[in-house]
Amino acid sequence: MNIDILLGMQWGDEGKGKVVDVLTPAYDVVARFQGGPNAGHSLEFNGKRHVLHIIPSGIFHEDKANIIGNGVVIDPAVFEDEILELEKMGLAPANNLFISRRAHLILPTHKLLDAAQESRKGEGKIGSTLKGIGPAYTDKTARAGLRVCDLETPDFEERLNERMEEHKAVLDSYGFEYGDVLPNMVEKWLKSLGNLRKFKFIDAEYELSNYLKEGKTVLAEGAQGTLLDLEFGAYPFVTSSNTVAAGAFSGLGLAPCLTGRVFGIVKAYCTRVGSGPFPTELFDETGDYLRKTGNEYGATTGRPRRCGWLDLVALKYAVMINGVTDIALTKADVLSGMPEIKVCTAYKVNGTMTDRIPADNKAVVEPVYTSLRGWQEDISKCREYDELPQTFKDYIRFVETETGARVSIVSVSPDRNATIFRKD
Ligand code: GDP
Ligand code: IMO
Ligand code: MG
Repeated sequence: MNIDILLGMQWGDEGKGKVVDVLTPAYDVVARFQGGPNAGHSLEFNGKRHVLHIIPSGIFHEDKANIIGNGVVIDPAVFEDEILELEKMGLAPANNLFISRRAHLILPTHKLLDAAQESRKGEGKIGSTLKGIGPAYTDKTARAGLRVCDLETPDFEERLNERMEEHKAVLDSYGFEYGDVLPNMVEKWLKSLGNLRKFKFIDAEYELSNYLKEGKTVLAEGAQGTLLDLEFGAYPFVTSSNTVAAGAFSGLGLAPCLTGRVFGIVKAYCTRVGSGPFPTELFDETGDYLRKTGNEYGATTGRPRRCGWLDLVALKYAVMINGVTDIALTKADVLSGMPEIKVCTAYKVNGTMTDRIPADNKAVVEPVYTSLRGWQEDISKCREYDELPQTFKDYIRFVETETGARVSIVSVSPDRNATIFRKD
């Protein structure tokens, strides 16, 4: 069997969590391959909203295996809080959630380093989620990180203290004061290891390979989005992992020739949290309208999201980099009632027209828009493609023609049931 991949096509928060939850019944396994507690994946059913950070979004389907892959960075303290929430709902996640022994750990000092490095950057800060992501991946690539398998070794505490002492020396060199905060964080973190150890640690690459040989189906769940990818986002305003399809193979230990469908999750407009280029950002009342109507506030940090029109230059890039076969379009219900909808179809970069994203994040990018007619109908109750207004179908056709990818799923509100699978 092949492995299907589901990814964000923009700057994250496209609705990945919801779509994974909806697709999970069609799979045997859901596996997260990168990122960590910087992610906030929301899903809704039975009138309740749930937000997951490290745990794959298939967890609410108790007959499905969920795997945290080697590419993920785990903060045991955040993980414990997430598990407690699930247990409060009566779930027993230890039965169907498995963790790669090769996944790296986020230490309390990684979080402090994240805060210290952001504050040192001043105006140039990335606007990170302050979850310790950058420093944890830095240690990973510096070959100094601690992994889940290290928890099983007798000298774990010694190595942990060694790492934290080195981090403290860096924090001291920055003049960053952490006072009582660090001992409290360390205490909670150490305690939370008890919870982590309740889970089965696996050699996920072997297990996944066996699942596929047995004919089982796997959905790889991405976090963040293509425009936050370490290689292809507007560096350095990116996250520290590979959010693109290629990341699924290194982040799970699978061969690229096993790729099946690639689901690109696309929000019908754009949002971004944190700093960095956002060519179609709106600073006017339309931007405020999108934020308010779309409830665009971060699922992890609560920060207001920057809002703007759909950017097809960026979307075409994301479809190309990821080999997207299927687009899942979300949140078009938020655009209902707008007389005119703009989509960016080209950029003027330093005064020259282009349909490419510049590598230099300091380039002056001016969006060139095409105007489409809006739809006035409330589409949130539609459950069949044919029920959608023609103007919305025209918008979909426009996106398909520009990107060359088919819109095969349309989400029309947060609930699990508010999802249209296109049949034609
Ligand atoms: P993720 O990080 O990609 O999983 O997305 P988030 O959960 O951070 O943000 C997406 C938000 O949009 C969440 O609050 C979802 O409940 C909500 N959402 C998902 N799909 C739709 C949709 O089709 N319409 C509306 N109005 N909200 C949606
Ligand atoms: P999900 O999976 C939106 C952004 C941060 C910041 C940059 C780097 O919910 O879509 P980091 O903490 O990773 O070092 O921050 O990336 N960011 C996200 N934005 N959704 C996310 O995840 C994000 N995860 C990180 O705001 O700009
Ligand atoms: Mg999110």
